[in-house]
Amino acid sequence: MITQYENYQRDGYLIIEDFISDDMCDRLIKQANQLIEKFEPRKSRAIFSTKHHELTKQQYFLDSGDNIHFFFEEDAFDDKKNLRKEKKFCINKIGHALHKHDNIFADFSRSSMITDMLKNISITDPRIMQSMYICKQANFGGEVTCHQDSTFLYVNGQPITGLWFALEDATIENGCLWAIPGGHHGTLKSRMIRKNNNEIVTDTYDPSPWDLTKMIPLEVKRGSMIVIHGLLPHMSKENISTRSRHAYTLHVMSSKDEFAKDNWLQQDVLV
Ligand code: FE2
Repeated sequence: MITQYENYQRDGYLIIEDFISDDMCDRLIKQANQLIEKFEPRKSRAIFSTKHHELTKQQYFLDSGDNIHFFFEEDAFDDKKNLRKEKKFCINKIGHALHKHDNIFADFSRSSMITDMLKNISITDPRIMQSMYICKQANFGGEVTCHQDSTFLYVNGQPITGLWFALEDATIENGCLWAIPGGHHGTLKSRMIRKNNNEIVTDTYDPSPWDLTKMIPLEVKRGSMIVIHGLLPHMSKENISTRSRHAYTLHVMSSKDEFAKDNWLQQDVLV
């Protein structure tokens, strides 16, 4: 009999339906909405000049490794720097330390059902490296181009593992995940590196484009979890529907392995 672990080894991803209850989905959505409600956008977008704005934006991103920070959709602002829609419909994602700084998300992220499941894929002593709440807004949520998570969170040892929790149904229309089954057997194409001066650069090892014709949609019901291998090529398209596609994600590794020191997310914030 093929076990879940063998499926995961073969495909580079695993879908587990009904992993979290409706109640839990509701609780996480409600908590995210409350965090967005309390968030004051202007604090995060002091705009003095384009260059200054870019530096501010980059620092806000780097600081998000140990904070709860809010990131807007690319088209969220009009020419006069005003939000085009109500704030809660303009947020792209919240990250990257909800699992540390918010009690509701922390309790869920560290729950035994997650740590038990991770044992099936050889992670017996998980260390959560980052968390994200992704809104994928109705008619507005942008595309996430094809990538491997190890590009952003490189681990010496078993590659970073993504856990993707569907808090709402994810369909082709509202921007579900797509992946290349078995694509994790290939090599890492690039790495995002944080230099000593905090400059972020990308090292490219393989400039060839992804064969997007091999992508298949991973449509899942609310409550499902998708486990994603760090080398699996995956993406999501724009949300062209009238329904949002909220999801919560965790990136975990085994404590036995070494998190690369030149990742954008730095070791010293990960106590
Ligand atoms: Fe990803």
